[in-house]
Amino acid sequence: MDFSDTCEGIGAQVIDLFAATFTASEGAEEGALIGDLVRNLLSGTPRQDLYVFTAQDHGEIIGGAVFSRLTYSDDPRSVFILSPMAVATDRHGQGIGQALLKHALDVLRDDGVDVAITYGDPAYYGKVGFLPIDEEVAAAPLPLSFPEGWIGQSLTDEPFHALKGKCACVAALEDPAIW
Ligand SMILES: CC(C)(COP(=O)(O)OP(=O)(O)OC[C@H]1O[C@@H](n2cnc3c(N)ncnc32)[C@H](O)[C@@H]1OP(=O)(O)O)[C@@H](O)C(=O)NCCC(=O)NCCS
Repeated sequence: MDFSDTCEGIGAQVIDLFAATFTASEGAEEGALIGDLVRNLLSGTPRQDLYVFTAQDHGEIIGGAVFSRLTYSDDPRSVFILSPMAVATDRHGQGIGQALLKHALDVLRDDGVDVAITYGDPAYYGKVGFLPIDEEVAAAPLPLSFPEGWIGQSLTDEPFHALKGKCACVAALEDPAIW
């Protein structure tokens, strides 16, 4: 398995992976929603505000993890949110998701990103260091329908200190349907 840190030339395959995986796990409507989300992230996000990591096996894209920037109005730290991620349905349970996330978090850390956040199942993301965070510690950009899924981790030697101010996400994530 190889990791790639760019989506140049593979955008359409990455979108297809997300649409197909979420269709299989949560139905056609969710598959279309997440496919559109990834299309919008890839096409509308400034380069410096986006990371697209993929896991590949002999050139086939078998996993994807998209991180985009969150900004806190009164805090200078660099924060990225993982949303969404997917592993090809026929490759679930082989450790690909965790390996991809460990790689992605290493790259973010090396790039000087201070904090990683995501919004998902704490039981899964806890395996790679994400812990529940209160919205008073880090505001969310939109109202959360599942506050238990708001989780994060410090990528520096410092513990997770509260992020100050209002939170803003990139345009593609400004959709109440995904929160
Ligand atoms: C969630 C997902 C990315 C995990 O990828 P994966 O490569 O199958 O996961 P890994 O093989 O790295 O890890 C498997 C472990 O996580 C657990 N796990 C997998 N999905 C889980 C979930 N949704 N909740 C809790 N635990 C989960 C498995 O039980 C397994 O545990 P074990 O290591 O103790 O045996 C993948 O199942 C997927 O693409 N699902 C559909 C899309 C989705 O839900 N994406 C996440 C929301 S954005």
